[in-house]
Amino acid sequence: MSNVYKLAIIPGDGIGPEVVNEGLKILEVVSKKYDFKVETTAFPFGGEHYMKTGEVLSDSAIEELRKFDAIYLGAVGHPDVKPGILEKGILLKLRFDFEQYINLRPVKLYENVETPLKNKTSKDINYTVVRENTGGLYVGEGSFTDKDTADEVAVQKMIYSRKQVDRCLRYAFELVKKNHSDNPWEGLTQQEKDGGFIGKLTMCGKTNVLTYAFDLWDRAFQEMAKEYPNVIADYVHVDAVCIYMVESPERFNVIVTGNMFGDIITDLAAVTQGGMGVAPSGNINPKGTSMFEPVHGSAPQFTGKNVINPIAAIATLSMMLNYLGEKEAAVSVESAMRKIIKEMKSMLVGQMGYSTSEIGDMIVEALA
Ligand code: IPM
Ligand code: MN
Repeated sequence: MSNVYKLAIIPGDGIGPEVVNEGLKILEVVSKKYDFKVETTAFPFGGEHYMKTGEVLSDSAIEELRKFDAIYLGAVGHPDVKPGILEKGILLKLRFDFEQYINLRPVKLYENVETPLKNKTSKDINYTVVRENTGGLYVGEGSFTDKDTADEVAVQKMIYSRKQVDRCLRYAFELVKKNHSDNPWEGLTQQEKDGGFIGKLTMCGKTNVLTYAFDLWDRAFQEMAKEYPNVIADYVHVDAVCIYMVESPERFNVIVTGNMFGDIITDLAAVTQGGMGVAPSGNINPKGTSMFEPVHGSAPQFTGKNVINPIAAIATLSMMLNYLGEKEAAVSVESAMRKIIKEMKSMLVGQMGYSTSEIGDMIVEALA
C-alpha cells in the first residue's frame, strides 16, 4: 500500500494562494509518479478571514492542525491589517504552538540565477542556515516602565534555555553529517580533508557583547563539538558573518544561530541566492507537525496578476517532501525546477519571461 500524507494547506494572503497553487499542481504529479497519496485540506487563515470573522488562528484550529503530517503555507500579511497581528497570530503561533524549533533555510544559488555577488557561482553559494525558531527575542518577554513619558524604558529579553540551545545545535551537527553523505560539501581545504574532516558547522553569535545569552550558546557549542571530532566547529560573530556571506560565502557549509540573527542573515542570504523569489524554508519539529513556507511575504501589490515567482514555494514543496520521507520525489522536483530555472530570464517579478502559472506548468511537464 502506498503511503498517505495528510497536508494542511494555508494559502494565506496576497500572492500566497497563487504560489501555493503551483506547488499543489506539482505535488499532484509527483505523488502519482512516486506512488504516494496526499490528502489536502485547505484552511482560510489570513487577513481576509481575520477581517471577516475576527479570528486569527484559534486554539481549536491549532488542535485541528495537529492531526496533519505537515502544513504548507503561502504567505501572510495584509495591507488593511495592522502589522504584527497576522505575523504573530499565525506564523509565530504555529511555530511556537507546534514547537517548530528549527527554521531550516537552505541557501543555494541555482545555475543561471543572477546574484549581486561579483564572481560568485553556484559552487560558492551553497550552504544551509539553521535558525533557532522558538526562543530568544521572539519569546516576546519584556516590559515598559513609565510608558509614554520622557523617562520611558522598554525591555525586550533574549531568553534561551540550555535545552533549547542544545536541541538546536544537535540538529545542526547532525545535518552536517547527513549532508556529507547526501551531498558532500566542497568547502574544505585539502589539509582539512586529509585531517578527516567531513564538514563545517559555523556558529553565528555575538559573544563579545551578548555575554549571557551567547555565552550559554558558546559553551553548549564547544561542549557538543567534542562529540563530533570530524566536524570543524567554527565560531563567527554575526557582524562578521554578514561580511563573509558577501565576500566569501564558499566558506560556509552549515550555519547555526539564534532566532533574531537567523531572521536577519537569511534575508541577506536570500538576496545572494537571487532574491526572495527563490528562498524556501521549513519550520521543523522533528517529532511533530512541521510547517513549510517560502521566505517571502504576501507582496499584495502583485496579487492576482500571475507575475510572481513561484520558485520559492516550489523549492519549499521539495523540502516538505524530503521531510515527509519522499526523498526521490523531493530530488526530482528540485531537478525539474533547476531545469526550468535555466529557461527563465530572471528571478524577479515581471522579468521572468513567463507567468507564474507557466512556470508551474513547465515544471509539471519536466516531471512527466
Ligand atoms: C520570517 C519573517 C517572520 C520572522 C515575521 C513575518 C514574523 O520575517 O519568516 O523570516 O521574523 O520570523
Ligand atoms: Mn524574516
